Amino acid sequence: MIEQGLSTSILGRARDKGLISFEAVNIRDYSCDEKHHKVDDYTYGGGAGMLMQAQPIYDCYKAVSEKISTDGGKKARLIYVTPQGYTFNQEMARDFASESDLIFLCGHYEGVDERVLEEIVTDYVSIGDYVLTGGELPAMVMIDAIARLVPGVLNNDESAMTESFHNHLLEYPQYSRPEEWMGKKVPPILLSGDHKKVDEWRLEKSIERTRERRPDLYEKWLSENPPKPEKKKRRKRKTAAAEESEQSGIQVNPEDNT
Ligand code: ADE
Repeated sequence: MIEQGLSTSILGRARDKGLISFEAVNIRDYSCDEKHHKVDDYTYGGGAGMLMQAQPIYDCYKAVSEKISTDGGKKARLIYVTPQGYTFNQEMARDFASESDLIFLCGHYEGVDERVLEEIVTDYVSIGDYVLTGGELPAMVMIDAIARLVPGVLNNDESAMTESFHNHLLEYPQYSRPEEWMGKKVPPILLSGDHKKVDEWRLEKSIERTRERRPDLYEKWLSENPPKPEKKKRRKRKTAAAEESEQSGIQVNPEDNT
């Protein structure tokens, strides 16, 4: 499932070019049970469902981390993909993308023996508040988000810079040909050729969209981009005549010297 899912389209091409590499490892291959390759067992204390045992996971982890020789003997981070983790976001994707190697542990069944998690996990990560049947899809989601940040994976470097979540803002609306479709016209500013105005419009739309759709992100953006205090209009010094007339209740134009 993982090999197939990650070998197509952009990630497949990036893999072929040698920009990224990945390998799915079957924990069953590290089972001590030679006959059935069993990796799960009942839970101490009772309860429904089976638990993944510590030994096959630990042996698998050891084999994988020995195989990937990370720089300076630094151990690769091990991401345990679990609904109990911190929710994955673009900032985490950027952080993981700066690592040379990553190991993902995909849980199954009811979970994993806590002792092996304590021993090997560096990051507990979820993809959202819902429960899936296993960790493979969440791992693939994360791998996709991380891999596209690796230099060269996307053709257009700029697309990684201006896209949603850059600077906490969602991306602005975009339009392609034709200029009019089902009575809807492309905003005229985008046809003006005035790049400065287009950039200003796009930023404005990004802010508007983020405020409407993701008020949580908008607050973050706002805290880093507080509105500039409005410049106070310099009040012209009143002329003696104006001051006098104000007191007398007669309006005089201070510029008016007549
Ligand atoms: N495994 C099952 N559900 C998950 C989720 N939402 N995130 C990460 N791993 C999971």
